[in-house]
Amino acid sequence: MKREICVLGTGRMGSSIVRTLLNHGYSTNVWNRTRAKCEPLIAAGAKSSLNLQDVIEPTDIIFVNVLDYAASDTLLKRDGIPSLLAGKTVVQLTSGSPRLAREDATWVGAQGADYLDGAIMATPDFIGRPDAALLYSGGPGPPMKPMSLYS
Ligand SMILES: NC(=O)c1ccc[n+]([C@@H]2O[C@H](COP(=O)([O-])OP(=O)(O)OC[C@H]3O[C@@H](n4cnc5c(N)ncnc54)[C@H](OP(=O)(O)O)[C@@H]3O)[C@@H](O)[C@H]2O)c1
Repeated sequence: MKREICVLGTGRMGSSIVRTLLNHGYSTNVWNRTRAKCEPLIAAGAKSSLNLQDVIEPTDIIFVNVLDYAASDTLLKRDGIPSLLAGKTVVQLTSGSPRLAREDATWVGAQGADYLDGAIMATPDFIGRPDAALLYSGGPGPPMKPMSLYS
């Protein structure tokens, strides 16, 4: 069974990730600071809520793709969110430095969640295509079933 995913941040890159997940049959919840950017994704089949907790709670994989790690912190460290993370996997796709990635991994691990940090080596138009490379790094954690976005 495909797992429930949420994507926090539906800017240019986040929206492309969401559309790719939807196109491949993943049940995808979305949240964005500026609500209007969620609307076309909801029309395309994404689920959403104004309440960030309601978006994160039912999912097991949380993709984060916002401007920077400071913006990511305002979401993941918001009141009521850290206690929801245990048992989930956070996939941090926001651009940042190795130091920020290590700090994020330590903090997310302390909440009882698994952490992957990804670097997107593509522009939004290429997401979901075989020539889009995403580099991931993270701790051992339990093995994740590979998620292919190619048919
Ligand atoms: N575009 C690319 O080609 C590309 C390639 C590789 C990596 N990336 C990385 O992907 C990430 C997103 O890039 P993008 O191109 O999608 O940028 P974008 O279109 O400017 O989107 C930025 C996103 O960050 C959100 N955001 C900014 N400040 C925030 C805050 N303080 N609190 C909550 N949300 C905040 C924005 O929300 P609002 O809509 O409310 O402003 C929006 O969802 C960046 O880290 C970027 O470096 C992008």
